[in-house]
Amino acid sequence: MVAPPHASSASAQQPPSRLDREAPLGVFDSGLGGLTVVRALRARCPSEDIIYLGDTARVPYGTRSGETVVRYALGCARMLLGRGVKAIVVACNTVSAVALEMMRVELDLPVLGVIVPGARAGVAAARGGAVGVLGTTGTISSGAYPRAVASLSTRAEVIGQAAPLLVSLAEEGWLEGEVPRLVSRRYLEPVIRAGAKCVVLGCTHYPLLQGVIEAEAADLAGAPVPVVDSARATAEDVANFLEERDQGSRRTRRGSLELLVTDLPKSFTAVAERFLGEPLGDVRQVDL
Ligand code: DGL
Repeated sequence: MVAPPHASSASAQQPPSRLDREAPLGVFDSGLGGLTVVRALRARCPSEDIIYLGDTARVPYGTRSGETVVRYALGCARMLLGRGVKAIVVACNTVSAVALEMMRVELDLPVLGVIVPGARAGVAAARGGAVGVLGTTGTISSGAYPRAVASLSTRAEVIGQAAPLLVSLAEEGWLEGEVPRLVSRRYLEPVIRAGAKCVVLGCTHYPLLQGVIEAEAADLAGAPVPVVDSARATAEDVANFLEERDQGSRRTRRGSLELLVTDLPKSFTAVAERFLGEPLGDVRQVDL
């Protein structure tokens, strides 16, 4: 099949269509951060049922080896596959950076990631200038963003910066005040100094700190700097993927949301509502 011109490189590589349009979408992340993608998905594709898996027992992935991340990611994906999902959305930049190709080889269903949509939104926001990217150590050292940007623009340069402490701040719910401000500033300084014309939030935890990051980037640059949330760009990509294949749900009711975690749900529940932007239903613990 020839992909339409607006199709993402992700959708162009997917297996042939034989999906049940009313089956749920499976979404997973190492922990809570992927709920920012779920939130964007529920806004953009409101009738889709979603099963979300947060591998809270093994978060963070961003500091682990590629082999470990691949192993964890395949475990999460197989669990969702067993629940009859029609496609998997990898709501984690680290997994998207180091394990997406392996997942597409190993799994017999469409797998969509967050890097290409985030890179595309970054290239558009930078308007030919350099694209700044904050991400985990694993994402930045993988070179996934420079590769994705190079496939979209022959001109745009990427200025990457690992920002691992922002994951802990988001998990702790420290979203404003002096500590997140100073930490964000420290990570943003070299990016803005090197001339980035936008900052891509290349980790699904970072959109929670968007307000602080925007303020510090603007202060350092002396003018507003666009800050790109890859969650929204990913939801747009998933919606396009489902529309192109005529696989979107035709339900008229709001889609359901099932939340699964691999560690005790208590700490997850406390912070997750903030990520999700809506009240949580039941959160169940599962074993992978
Ligand atoms: N949500 C992960 C990502 O987008 C970051 C958290 C982690 O390190 O596991 O990369």
